[in-house]
Amino acid sequence: MSTRRDFIRTSAGAGVGAALGALPKQLEAGVPNIISRRVTPVCVASGNGLGAVSRAIEELANGASTIEAVVRGVNLVEEDPNDSSVGYGGLPNEHGVVQLDSSLMHGPTRGAGAVAALEGFKRPSLVALDVMRYTDHHLLVGEGAQRFALSMGHQLEDLLTESSRERWIEWRAQLSDRDDYLSPEDSGERIGRFQEPEEFGDGLLDSHDGYRPQGTINCDIVDSDGDLSSVTTTSGLSYKIPGRVGDSPIIGAGQYCDNDVGAAGSTGRGEAVIKTCGSYTVVEMMRNGMHPTDACIEALRRIVHVTVEDRLRDENGRPNFNVNYYAVNKNGDWGGAAIWSGAQFAVSVNGDSRHEDSAYLFERG
Ligand code: GLY
Repeated sequence: MSTRRDFIRTSAGAGVGAALGALPKQLEAGVPNIISRRVTPVCVASGNGLGAVSRAIEELANGASTIEAVVRGVNLVEEDPNDSSVGYGGLPNEHGVVQLDSSLMHGPTRGAGAVAALEGFKRPSLVALDVMRYTDHHLLVGEGAQRFALSMGHQLEDLLTESSRERWIEWRAQLSDRDDYLSPEDSGERIGRFQEPEEFGDGLLDSHDGYRPQGTINCDIVDSDGDLSSVTTTSGLSYKIPGRVGDSPIIGAGQYCDNDVGAAGSTGRGEAVIKTCGSYTVVEMMRNGMHPTDACIEALRRIVHVTVEDRLRDENGRPNFNVNYYAVNKNGDWGGAAIWSGAQFAVSVNGDSRHEDSAYLFERG
């Protein structure tokens, strides 16, 4: 007897091609004229992902699938206590609790998985991968996501490092002078270890509101067969309202992958990306024939267009925050762009891993 699970397994394998073959002609028009041939594998990521792109390409060379490659790549950053925007050591929410978000897509199987507001697991991308592989769902959140992670054997850990806790305490003390929390200066004592990270402002991290740093890692890959995958993982907006979820775990916002076209992802102000279905928009632009860089720029223009709130604009009416997109297409073309100049992204291609300057809409003053 054929069960629902058998059906899922079958459709993840051979069924995809058959299903596409059965599409009426007018629906096939959505598939771009990309000729299947050997492509040069390439991996792109946000600026904090130089190690991630190298590792992902290495994993591909060692036989990993595209999704395994990008997840193992971003695991490096999730495990790094010194990256305060992702995984272990990520800055906490306003209650001092680290809540992590991640989503991913595997092109060849059309698989997708995500977790949001997940507490206690360093590598939310691995939990998202399990959601994709072992459930009939695409997104698990909060306590349900935590129970699921435990059930799959992931190890529950305290993710708040001493340095992230100190930065949170400092932030809490500076919120108001009408509460009982004192900053080290007010109390006559200087902890002396609190410092905004050095990378803040040089394009590796962006600000959500001029004060709170906002990082994240996105990583997108294409292999020599033209197969694609994408993953995004983050601790989200620092000191956020508990339960706030940004773009990273939202499929179509924080990342999107269509194995017929390309893969894309974002970092920066998640609210702007969610409102414009950002990564999906980048992939749709590539479907219409745009180069990845131009597709990123076009999706950023949409953000500028819908940013009408005074509190989110500078004196010239431009967004006072940044968003970055990164993309690869099925032919192995790649690119990255940001609203503001000065951003960089990581790329690994032909044995060379390096930072590249992102294209941009506006020059920083
Ligand atoms: N882009 C990450 C976030 O807004 O949470």
